[in-house]
This record gives sequence, structure tokens and C-alpha cells, in this order.
Amino acid sequence: MRDVAVIGMGITKFGELWRSPLRDLHAEAVADCLADAGIERRQVQSAWIGCMSSGLFNGQEHLASILTDYAGLAGIAATRVESACASGGAAFRAAWLEVASGASDYVLATGVEKMNDGADATYCLSTAADQEYEVYHGVTFPGLYAMIAKAHMHKWGTTREQLADVAVKNHRHGALNPKAQFPQEITRATVLGAVMVASPLGLFDCSPVSDGAAAVLLAPVEVARALGKPVVRILGSGHATDTIALHDRADVSRIPVVQAAARRAFAMAGVGPRDIDLVEVHDCFTIAELVCLEELGFFEPGKAAAATSAGETALGGRIPVNTSGGLKSKGHPVGATGIAQIAELYEQLTGKAGKRQVKDARRGLAQNMGGSGGSCTVHILEVSR
Ligand code: COA
Repeated sequence: MRDVAVIGMGITKFGELWRSPLRDLHAEAVADCLADAGIERRQVQSAWIGCMSSGLFNGQEHLASILTDYAGLAGIAATRVESACASGGAAFRAAWLEVASGASDYVLATGVEKMNDGADATYCLSTAADQEYEVYHGVTFPGLYAMIAKAHMHKWGTTREQLADVAVKNHRHGALNPKAQFPQEITRATVLGAVMVASPLGLFDCSPVSDGAAAVLLAPVEVARALGKPVVRILGSGHATDTIALHDRADVSRIPVVQAAARRAFAMAGVGPRDIDLVEVHDCFTIAELVCLEELGFFEPGKAAAATSAGETALGGRIPVNTSGGLKSKGHPVGATGIAQIAELYEQLTGKAGKRQVKDARRGLAQNMGGSGGSCTVHILEVSR
């Protein structure tokens, strides 16, 4: 296998983008990515496109063809990848494998979702849960994560205030990100006083319904070196699946797929949690950030909540988490999220993250998850100058 690097990134504004069709969002992210990389369209050989549900959200399938066409890449090899909210991470892994195998030199990994297009977003998202045993009985994604939150609170004593501190921290980071959907700071009181969605999770414990796209370009490390830029190498890639339904798991307070994917990524990278300088985790709900940090090995089980409230995961803290604002503040256009996480790591590792820059960041980890933990990817990136 060849060593592979990320050599450019592009990302649209995230939000309720009623005037931007799906294809335009994707084309904008690709154009920005290629400009950032300094690569011509004719050099791109292949694209892997993460998207969860354009058929339901937008009535548009056959996505790989239409999106590459409108991005000015007609004719290249292109494949759409679906793994619910982990579609972006899975697309990134596929692009990495294509370059690592030697089959292609310039491969795009993109992600896109347009969730505000008139469709019932709650229904569309629910198709990533177990239809027969969860959805038919009225459970939604906020409801599933509420069950995880209740179990975590019961087992570890996690409090509503500690959950709120995850949202406060991520909104503080998102306020520094011009692409974020909700770039405003909030307080604990805002979170605790917000309308309840699924107890104990209120409005500000939930990621929003978002439109947006992101793209990164992958190439062999030698190409990255020849471009004369910092080399952001993909050090580790882990991918795992688990049951979709929560009731099929031994412990509802845990999300084991994250640990499984992380083990594979850390083993391949030859590093551990202590060697990582910043993390983008899948905080689709505040409880998810805490559980994922514990499954990834950054904290002992039951310890992430107190560490968050003590500021350890904030910018300037011991291990900054979700410097982009995370899914909570930056937004969560589901298929785009996994690629947006890699884009954030790329900006941080190349020193281009502006006001949210982590000083001397050398290694970053991105964790992208499908549904309530039915699938997960973990990627570790390292920069050398
Ligand atoms: N964070 C912060 N503010 C939010 C928000 C969020 N997650 N969601 C909405 N808002 C704001 C809106 O901008 C709006 O403000 P305004 O009145 O000043 O314009 C207000 O809160 C109400 O928004 P609205 O869009 O009417 O909310 P909603 O009730 O339709 O949806 C949720 C709120 C939480 C139910 C919805 O965002 C949701 O389902 N989130 C979860 C998405 C999900 O499950 N993703 C997959 C994860 S696995």
C-alpha cells in the first residue's frame, strides 16, 4: 500500500440554504477544494461521494453521475457511498484505499446533504434506524440518543448540566467558524431552558437539520511533497459496524462500534489517544460527544463529562474537541459531516484554522458515526513539514 496525503479541502457554508440546490452545493465544495489543492479538473481521476438520502430528501438518485457532471468532472469514475450519517467517513476511506492501492493518483472524497428541501427530515433520518423494532413504535433519533443519555446518567451519574456544557463549548468554538450554521455563543442557562425534544435532550442538545457540502482531495505522499506544502498523511483508518437497534446491544450506555473502529485506526497508525492533539467527534447529540470520547479512549468510561465541564476539551484545554463547532454548532448535513471533519483537521494541521487554531497541532483524529452507532469510521491524520 502507498502512503496517502490530503492535499486540499473545500467546504460550503452550512445552514438552511433554500437557494442552493444539492448539485450547486457539491460543485462549490469541489471547486474550492481543487483551487485550494492547486490541481486542475482534468487531473482528477475518481470521486467517492458520501450522501445518506438524496432520494428521500430531494427526490434525486443516481447521484455520482449528476454531481460529477455539474462539478465539471463528467466522465471520471464516481461512486456514491451510503452509511447513514457516516457516509462521508466511509467515502473518505474508499478514496484513501483507491490511492493507497495504486489504482489512481488524484481522488476526491466529497460529502453532501440537502435536508431542507421540503421533505420530512425526521422521517428521512429515521430510515437509518431499525424500521421494524424502533421506528414503527415511534422512536426518532433524538429519542434513541435520549435513551443512551438516560442509561449513561443512571450508570455514571452524568448530569443535565454536564450535557449542557458540551453544547456551550461547541457553540463557543463554532462562533469562531465562519462556515457554521449557528455561530453564536450560548450559556448553560440557554441549554437548560430550551424546549424539550426527547427527555433529557432539549433543542440545544441536538444537532440541527442542515444543508451543506465538503470535499477533500487525496494523492500519494510524493505528490503532496512535490507541491511544496505541509504533508498531511493519513496515518490510520478504522471502519466498523454494529447492530442498528439499541435493544440488540449489551449496554445501552455505550456505543461499542466507536471503540472497534478506533482500535483498528490506532493499530494501523501505531499511536494511541495520548499522541493526538485534536479531535473531531460525532456530537449529533451532546451525549454522543461524551460517549464517543470514552469509547475512543480519550477518557475512562464515565469521566468525559466532568472533564468537559472542567474545560479539558475546549480550545486551549488538554485535548481540544470539535474545534469546528462540531455537528452541534457548525451543523450536520449528514452525508457531508465526515468529510467536513477531515477538512477541519486539514485546516488545523496546516495552520490555516484562523481564530480557532490549535497551537502546534501535529496529529488529529476524526470520528464519524452512522445512526445510533450502527456504523463508524475513525481516521488519524499527521502533518510533517
Ligand atoms: N441548535 C440551535 N438552534 C436551533 C437548532 C439546534 N439544533 N435547531 C433549531 N434551532 C433554532 C432555529 O434556528 C429556530 O430559531 P428561530 O426561531 O430564531 O428561527 C428555532 O431554533 C426553532 O427551529 P426549528 O427549525 O423550528 O426547530 P425544529 O423543532 O423544527 O427542529 C430539532 C429542532 C432539534 C427537532 C431538529 O433540529 C432535529 O431533529 N435535530 C436532530 C437531527 C438529527 O437527528 N440528526 C441525525 C443525528 S443521528
